[in-house]
Amino acid sequence: MNRSPRRSLLSMLVPAALAVALAAASVAAEKEPIQARQDAMEAQGAAMKALGAIARKEAPFEAAVVRQNAETIASGLAAVAELFPEGSDRGAIETWARPEIWANRADFEAKRTAAHAAATDLAAVTDEAAFAPALGRVGNACKSCHEKYRRPKE
Ligand code: HEC
Repeated sequence: MNRSPRRSLLSMLVPAALAVALAAASVAAEKEPIQARQDAMEAQGAAMKALGAIARKEAPFEAAVVRQNAETIASGLAAVAELFPEGSDRGAIETWARPEIWANRADFEAKRTAAHAAATDLAAVTDEAAFAPALGRVGNACKSCHEKYRRPKE
């Protein structure tokens, strides 16, 4: 979207400082949730990687490490509840979120809360035998949302 004609019209009509504030607010409203949700998702991806290394026995099982990474995932999934506002199917930066999110809001939200619950369960794991199945449930919850609501990155 090319916003500059509108922005220059605005600056002719209102005092410069107000025009700058309005332009900044409209850009932030478009860009911020996309960047913020991608950052939260990236943090979850990094935590999943660390947990995957434990599952593959490339790193030792330590309940405290599991809890810390699972809490990163849970807090990311809590944060994204507010980061898919109406209209953020596009913005100043590219998003891989599918428009179906906003047509199936209740289902999207159910997938988010299911993933959050799985991450909370994982955070409580202290027994190594329970770790892999609990991690598997988190991984499936990520996948079940991505398959439906996220365009794959080529
Ligand atoms: C309720 C749906 C949902 C759940 C659950 C979910 N994601 Fe996502 N995820 C998305 C959507 C939608 C995007 C695309 C966001 C965008 O591009 O604006 C995304 C993007 C990502 C990205 C790419 C971010 C980027 O920089 O482009 C990663 C990595 C990711 N998710 C990891 C995870 C992991 C790991 C989990 C599980 C712990 C998870 N996600 C759970 C919906 C979900």
